[in-house]
Amino acid sequence: MKPFVVSYNLEDMNINFQGNKVVRRYRDIKNIFLNKDEELEKENPVIYEVFEAPVPENEGDLMFLITILYPGKVKGEFFMTKGHYHTVENTGEVYMGLRGKGLILCQTKEGDFEAVPIEPNKVVYIPPFWAHRSVNISDEPLVFFAVYPAHAGHDYGTIEKTGFLKRVFSKDGEVSFVENK
Ligand code: PA5
Ligand code: NI
Repeated sequence: MKPFVVSYNLEDMNINFQGNKVVRRYRDIKNIFLNKDEELEKENPVIYEVFEAPVPENEGDLMFLITILYPGKVKGEFFMTKGHYHTVENTGEVYMGLRGKGLILCQTKEGDFEAVPIEPNKVVYIPPFWAHRSVNISDEPLVFFAVYPAHAGHDYGTIEKTGFLKRVFSKDGEVSFVENK
């Protein structure tokens, strides 16, 4: 393939990354939240969108993308992504905050857990073997750029079974961590 350039504009939120686009609505991912919400069930809003660049999934290539995670809560639990390990576990990822404020929940299969902040002017490093999930703790869209080895793949199944060790709720206007049982 040849070098290429894609563009984005945060002012009008126009992301023109030319690749695969993933849209996840409430009903697609409602099982990741602790509680159900009747209103959201009816409205079925978009929770997040991923705009990928047209990079082949080959070893040696670098996939890059922008995620927009909208603000909102499900019975107090902040909107979040599904979260995943990489299928090729020995692959890391870099997230760069562009807009809004969030937390990246990270954990290993050995039971380590970290929640690291993401926002403009911050860059997060997710090492190999760490699962990652994004949580929007602001009242505007959380927008971040990500880049990872294009052959890494997404293992959603493990997190679907185990969940993350902690959930993030809004409680009395504060961010509150709740142990996931
Ligand atoms: O590769 C990544 O880690 C991100 O691009 C995520 O895929 C994206 O933010 C959406 O999250 P998830 O894949 O957990 O649904
Ligand atoms: Ni990833």
